[in-house]
Amino acid sequence: MNMTAQAHAKINLHLAVGPLRSDGYHHLQSLFARLELADVITVDIEEGPFSVVVEGLGGVCEPGTDTMSRAARLWHEASGWDGRLTVSIEKNIPVQSGLGGGSSDAASLLSLLNTIKPLPEDRLHQIATRVGSDVPFFLFGGNAAIVEGRGERVTPIASRPLGVLLVMPRDFAVSTAEAYAHLDRLRAHETPRFIDPVRLVDIYNKSCPMWVDSLYNDFYPTVAELPLYQRLNALGDGLEGYATISGSGACWYIVSEDDSCIREAEKSVQDHVGDRVVCWQSRLL
Ligand code: C5P
Repeated sequence: MNMTAQAHAKINLHLAVGPLRSDGYHHLQSLFARLELADVITVDIEEGPFSVVVEGLGGVCEPGTDTMSRAARLWHEASGWDGRLTVSIEKNIPVQSGLGGGSSDAASLLSLLNTIKPLPEDRLHQIATRVGSDVPFFLFGGNAAIVEGRGERVTPIASRPLGVLLVMPRDFAVSTAEAYAHLDRLRAHETPRFIDPVRLVDIYNKSCPMWVDSLYNDFYPTVAELPLYQRLNALGDGLEGYATISGSGACWYIVSEDDSCIREAEKSVQDHVGDRVVCWQSRLL
């Protein structure tokens, strides 16, 4: 048997990070939006004792340590299902970009596996959280959601199909754990700011240039000193959109309801820093 699914990327339109908790994680308040950009995963299933092999991630991580292998093992333990899984992936979402590729791949695989032998929703949610903090959004968040807790509290909201330009540096990627540690060092004595969730949704429904005064990404200061991001931000300032990084980086984006702004942004980025970045036009779903 053979099954295929798309694993869409996300951007964080807002990301407020609370203080370090005793479990090593941080409390969050974020607005996640799903993108058209997606990896494609194909699962081939044969009879036999449980095993999982993932093909197509050479050079990304050690075999067996990727998010899909971990998700499949946890799902096997919970469901008791046996069989040989061979997962192949067409990787379109850049790694260490803050676009959630690894989490989305795991969520899509869990969705596929769950059609073979469904687990109760709370059990699936538990597995998702164990695989990674962003995985619950991809399973339960629809196209846009407010995400809280460590990432496990997901409240879907009505999404907006906006245009986006994604800009990924060629020679700079970000490890999430290191970005959190960097952030803790930068703001040891600051009190984190969270927005009232109802207000957050109200702001999201306003025009993108108006987000600039209210939405933020607490990780931005971890890259703000780097010349490439200073350049990108200066380019974004002159345009009718909202620009920041996604997650803990390294991907920078500009989002707008005006498609000509996205085209203009791409031209400007290509003209000024085209040799140092890769750009994609995409859409929020
Ligand atoms: O959950 P995930 O495996 O994606 O997290 C990777 C790392 O990011 C964690 O080990 C932790 O250092 C940091 N993290 C955090 N607070 C969160 C999510 C992630 O500190 N809410």
